[in-house]
Amino acid sequence: MDLHELEAIAEREQAQRPRLRILCCAAAGCQASGALEIKRRLELVLSAAGKLAEVEVAPVGCMGLCGHGPLVRIEPEGTVFERVTPADAEEIVSALEQGPCNVLRCNLNHPFFTRQRPIVLRHCGRINPERIEDYIAVGGYRTLYTVIHELTPAEVIQIIARSGLRGRGGAGYPTGLKWATVAKSPGERKFVICNADEGDPGAFMDRSVLESDPHLVLEGMAIAAYAVGAEQGFIYVRGEYPLAIERLQKAIVQARRLGLLGAQIFESGFNFRVDIRVGAGAFVCGEETALIASIEGRRGQPRPRPPYPAEKGLWGMPTLINNVETFANVTAIIENGPEWFRQIGTEKSKGTKVFALTGKIRNTGLIEVPMGITLREIVYEIGDGTPDGTPVKAVQTGGPSGGCIPAELFDTPVDYESLAAVGSIMGSGGMVVMDEHTNMVDVARFYIEFCKDESCGKCIPCRVGTVQLFNLLTKLRNGQAQPRDLDTIEELCELMRETSLCGLGQSAPNPVLSTLQYFRHEYEQLIGVEVDHGS
Ligand SMILES: Cc1cc2nc3c(=O)[nH]c(=O)nc-3n(C[C@H](O)[C@H](O)[C@H](O)COP(=O)(O)O)c2cc1C
Ligand code: SF4
Ligand code: FES
Repeated sequence: MDLHELEAIAEREQAQRPRLRILCCAAAGCQASGALEIKRRLELVLSAAGKLAEVEVAPVGCMGLCGHGPLVRIEPEGTVFERVTPADAEEIVSALEQGPCNVLRCNLNHPFFTRQRPIVLRHCGRINPERIEDYIAVGGYRTLYTVIHELTPAEVIQIIARSGLRGRGGAGYPTGLKWATVAKSPGERKFVICNADEGDPGAFMDRSVLESDPHLVLEGMAIAAYAVGAEQGFIYVRGEYPLAIERLQKAIVQARRLGLLGAQIFESGFNFRVDIRVGAGAFVCGEETALIASIEGRRGQPRPRPPYPAEKGLWGMPTLINNVETFANVTAIIENGPEWFRQIGTEKSKGTKVFALTGKIRNTGLIEVPMGITLREIVYEIGDGTPDGTPVKAVQTGGPSGGCIPAELFDTPVDYESLAAVGSIMGSGGMVVMDEHTNMVDVARFYIEFCKDESCGKCIPCRVGTVQLFNLLTKLRNGQAQPRDLDTIEELCELMRETSLCGLGQSAPNPVLSTLQYFRHEYEQLIGVEVDHGS
């Protein structure tokens, strides 16, 4: 494969494509509500009308507004229909020519669409993730060609470093710095790992990206491998994501067949193969050292760092581990330049962030927003508030490692530092909206129970601490706690933070501490219940 062949595929694809297209979201969310049957019915109606040659019905990835699915988009017109049923197929087909129909249309002028800034999600809902030709037609794999033939590995690392990209897996570590460390670490072999374990309750960003645009992630990984000097990559993806795994498998086979992965990519000396490793659903296996142990065939338990995987990772070799979204940012940064990326976001948090917006919110779905946008804009403009108008109470970001931010602080900008300053974290992108009916002690108890169940048991503060915290919160919930139990909860949280071996135990107290900070009265009210009962 050379550049001319790549461009020929793109041109052929554009030339052969019918002018009219009906794009059906076939990501997991819409599939679960009948998207494949809708696609089949559309094809039947078109076939009966003898129009199958003029109109293409294509399965595409997530269009974002998952809670209003199944979604269908008409191209080139751009209309998007929501909550489509198979019975709507005839009206949608007739609307291709006659214009207005009664099927529900999304208001594309709504802030849900206009306030977003799609970079990672730019192809989602627009290309068929199961066809590499679709990806090539939107410019796919051209950046990899440029990188291999026009840039040195050091230049690629410099571009990523200058862009200010930080890891989207949670901690926000500077990506360029990590790539530079792997590149300069001595080792017989080097590896690149894509962390697609995504175990946070309520999070589905990485799954959606893999289901909707797997080649974007593969291309980002290949560029990273070229930059750090790796020839082998792994995607560690959780077993609960069968559609993402299936599409990744197809994407890898297709890329290999075209010489875009494997040996002598683009007829150069650069080789890079990618394999999938399927996780068995342990949250701790998202932690990088546990993930490495799991790929090596050992029990998925974290180990102390340093040494960091960048120096001693998979089989003791320098290993680059990045999150799905981190890799998905790479091609856009190289195509548009680091300065372009730097002007999006805030001083220390550049670019955009993908969030899975869920909970008590009207517009449930997948969003990509510029860093620095406020929580208020996300909740009230993009999300459109709660479904029944009940006031919003708080937003939980960062999953079990994050915190609950009360509505009074919704003017907080969404960036790594600001979220940490109010007791939460950016995390990998789970954002759960809670309304006034939510009991915050229950929320804290839910996340601690999750961490208790997911603790690998290797170190005592986490193994015992999560159980004790859960028991104390249960006691509180049952109206059996004493005032001193609140002090014990706080001491235990501090102890776990300071002495746990890995991020799971260190950050497990966050949901408890943030709810104690902002909703202490709800804890105290439960103690009051016991005192009243006693008297
Ligand atoms: C308990 C735990 C679970 C984690 N789960 C994930 C995960 O599912 N996906 C992810 O990318 N990072 C996860 N991380 C963070 C990884 O250890 C690592 O920092 C990240 O993959 C690095 O990629 P990045 O630099 O692109 O963010 C987890 C960390 C901890 C402590
Ligand atoms: S903090 Fe928890 S999950 Fe991490 S090593 Fe210790 S016991 Fe295992
Ligand atoms: S799954 Fe269809 S819009 Fe997200």
